[in-house]
Amino acid sequence: MIIAVDGPAASGKGTLARRLAAHYGLNYLDTGSLYRAVGVAVERSGASPSNTDAALAAARGLEIEDFDDDQLRADGAGEAASIIAADPQVREIMLDFQRRIASSPPGAVLDGRDIGTVVCPDAEVKLFVTADIEVRARRRHAELCAAGVKPSLETVLDDLRRRDERDAGRAVAPLKPAADAYLLDTTKLDIEAAFQAAVEYIDGKI
Ligand code: CDP
Repeated sequence: MIIAVDGPAASGKGTLARRLAAHYGLNYLDTGSLYRAVGVAVERSGASPSNTDAALAAARGLEIEDFDDDQLRADGAGEAASIIAADPQVREIMLDFQRRIASSPPGAVLDGRDIGTVVCPDAEVKLFVTADIEVRARRRHAELCAAGVKPSLETVLDDLRRRDERDAGRAVAPLKPAADAYLLDTTKLDIEAAFQAAVEYIDGKI
């Protein structure tokens, strides 16, 4: 079974997807970490994330250990990821790896932006996780503060807004719900309630 979990930044899709993978005994892939790893590699090389040649070289040179880097969740990595993720050739390189994980037994939960629309259009289950942007900003702000980074709430809100606009506005694989996705709005749901709602939907579907 393949479960696609898409949604905008800080919607809670990563935590939900991880719990669903454990619950159904499936592999888990945070596809954002692939784009974050490319973004971080480009910045480390001294190039700008908008430099297509540098982004392509970094994408081709990715190693499995690169996904395990603390810097991937650091401030700025999401922004760099979103810039390189708009490049169709970078996305093409990421596609194979994601599909290989998805098709490995016993199946997988993948979270990202284009899993239900592009990476796994035939996934048995597709969820699109959303929440009001203020709520998402508060969640991401709390996460960053807990990690020792103390940005203002306003900065976090601006970052999310800019990234969502870029992700939804790009020509290739934009952030959008698949036509057959189940919309899960977590604005008023904590993680436990969101998990229960998702399980109820998935159990009814399979
Ligand atoms: O955790 P958060 O929702 O903030 O971001 P993420 O899922 O780690 O993704 C970081 C960035 O990678 C996004 O803003 C997208 O631009 C890009 N991404 C993508 O284009 N396609 C995916 N399947 C996953 C992430």
